[in-house]
Amino acid sequence: MKLIFLGPPGAGKGTLAVRAVEMLGIPQISTGSIFRAAIAAKTPLGLKVKSIIDEGKLVDDETTIALVKERLAMDDVQKGYILDGFPRTIPQAEALATFSAVDKVVNFDIPDPNVIERLSGRRVCKACGYNFHVLFNKPKKEGVCDYCGGEIYIRDDDKPEAIQKRLVVYREQTAPLIDYYRKKGLLLDIDAKPMIDEMEVIFKKAMGI
Ligand code: AP5
Ligand code: MG
Repeated sequence: MKLIFLGPPGAGKGTLAVRAVEMLGIPQISTGSIFRAAIAAKTPLGLKVKSIIDEGKLVDDETTIALVKERLAMDDVQKGYILDGFPRTIPQAEALATFSAVDKVVNFDIPDPNVIERLSGRRVCKACGYNFHVLFNKPKKEGVCDYCGGEIYIRDDDKPEAIQKRLVVYREQTAPLIDYYRKKGLLLDIDAKPMIDEMEVIFKKAMGI
């Protein structure tokens, strides 16, 4: 099963993807996580994209497409994958269609006030990338990841100015993908407002699994 998770920043794509990976036995490919790992490792890619990401802008299509194309050529994705955060522009979607055929695009439908609440309370594990939340998904021990014991931090792009910028960028550049995929008959709309456990039930029902 080849899936795209499409939706605004903070919609819960990454959180549901972690559970969907367990359910479906296919890997999650998060372009945001790949970029953050490159930034942490100070690779040439990381140095190039750090300020763009911190400001809440999009990395250029050429760089992002090349990265995903390379990732989708690997053995572990031949059975399927969850693309979390890609494509984010029409040119990215058009490029993807030339090297992989997706089965479904899950569209996370959620209003701005909910995403602002989710992003401003998000806390992320530095080591494994798991997304906690100060109200909705607290770690058992403050500042320590439940899963790997890693240190928990606040993403630089979860500052209020960067959140606002990402919402504008989403509306201008990513939201047009909703119609793009609807016209292709691939879109599966899900209400992304409910809490995390309920989202798992909603997803299973929508997918018929
Ligand atoms: P990326 O990492 O993809 O960030 P994003 O789209 O801004 O989305 P997030 O990962 O922040 O949100 P999410 O939907 O995964 O929500 P989460 O599950 O964490 O990208 C970062 C940056 O990289 C981009 O801004 C861009 O610069 C660059 N980039 C990435 N891909 C690119 C591309 N294709 N092209 C160009 N540039 C690209 O949940 C959020 C919070 O809510 C968490 O705290 C979580 O615990 C909580 N939560 C989750 N679900 C629920 C729920 N159901 N109920 C209550 N709380 C919940
Ligand atoms: Mg994410």
